[in-house]
Amino acid sequence: MPQHILITGGAGFIGSHLADKLLLCQPDTYITAVDNFDDFYDPRLKHRNIAAARQNPRYRLLTADICQPDQWQSQVAHTHFDAIVHLAAKAGVRPSISRPQAYYEVNVRGTQVLLDWAQRNGVKRFIFGSSSSVYGINPKVPWVESDTDFMPISPYAATKIAAEMLGHVYTHLYGMQFIALRFFSVYGERQRPDLAINKFVQAIEGNESIPFFGNGSISRDYTHVSDITDGIIAALGYRDTNYEIINLGNGHAISLSDMVRCLGEVMECEVRIAQLPEQAGDVPQTCADIDEARRLLGYQPRISLTEGLRQYVTWHQKEADV
Ligand SMILES: NC(=O)c1ccc[n+]([C@@H]2O[C@H](COP(=O)([O-])OP(=O)(O)OC[C@H]3O[C@@H](n4cnc5c(N)ncnc54)[C@H](O)[C@@H]3O)[C@@H](O)[C@H]2O)c1
Repeated sequence: MPQHILITGGAGFIGSHLADKLLLCQPDTYITAVDNFDDFYDPRLKHRNIAAARQNPRYRLLTADICQPDQWQSQVAHTHFDAIVHLAAKAGVRPSISRPQAYYEVNVRGTQVLLDWAQRNGVKRFIFGSSSSVYGINPKVPWVESDTDFMPISPYAATKIAAEMLGHVYTHLYGMQFIALRFFSVYGERQRPDLAINKFVQAIEGNESIPFFGNGSISRDYTHVSDITDGIIAALGYRDTNYEIINLGNGHAISLSDMVRCLGEVMECEVRIAQLPEQAGDVPQTCADIDEARRLLGYQPRISLTEGLRQYVTWHQKEADV
């Protein structure tokens, strides 16, 4: 049966990959993407992200701010959506420290606006793009969803916790299915320019030193975007319970030093490091326990870091030639 999915933040890094995969793999799926082309990074990149999808008759783009109902709600008034995948957000830990209110506005109030609209319009399923940052400085790694010792250290992380809790309210009051997927350091083609791997590749290509915050011991559970989109699609098919929080990670943490070494090997370049002070808001480690994702969603990350970096570097070099 045909299904229609609303993807917020649909022109962004993860949202555009999700749309492409759904259009490719599910011929019965129709997509409406909402995005306001926020200038957190160059909106031209976002237009490029969705250039192929826009050629598809099953894809529709609404350029609108989710926080402004008058910009989009009348345009979808006659469409029935089977599910919402809510990825629109102000992303990024560090910038949230200087702009906490803007993060609150989009990530919390924007989620509230969407949940409210979903409830009034009979949308039964809501998938929310949450973040590993909710665990913050909780030292008990790998992080398990049942551990509710949240220790966020950035406004961004706090907004994600708040949105997860709003979802619980809507499940409880209205029976809406709400699944929060906590993404862990997502990377891959079209990656946001502010993220580490993109910056590092650019520095190496420009024969510059890599800006390294801290002593390199911080570790991250890097997860390839195609594994993340597989996890989101599996969550779209999940029916057994109404409220779930699920980690989507790779399940292996690697130190920043080792990641940079791996990148140097992939690029066959000597890597120089410029060590800088640790950044406020950065947590020392992230590592996902992915048993729940395996059990509930049949999730199985497939792309190793070396393979993912290789693909990323190839894509990046091709993009530079465009
Ligand atoms: N990339 C990661 O490593 C990562 C990790 C954890 C969680 N997440 C979450 O995943 C989601 C997608 O992240 P991403 O990396 O693709 O980021 P992204 O910035 O590429 O995508 C987010 C999109 O949302 C849009 N947007 C922002 N505010 C909006 C608004 N008010 N109305 C409509 N659209 C709006 C932006 O224009 C952008 O295209 C976000 O919710 C982010 O917090 C990402």
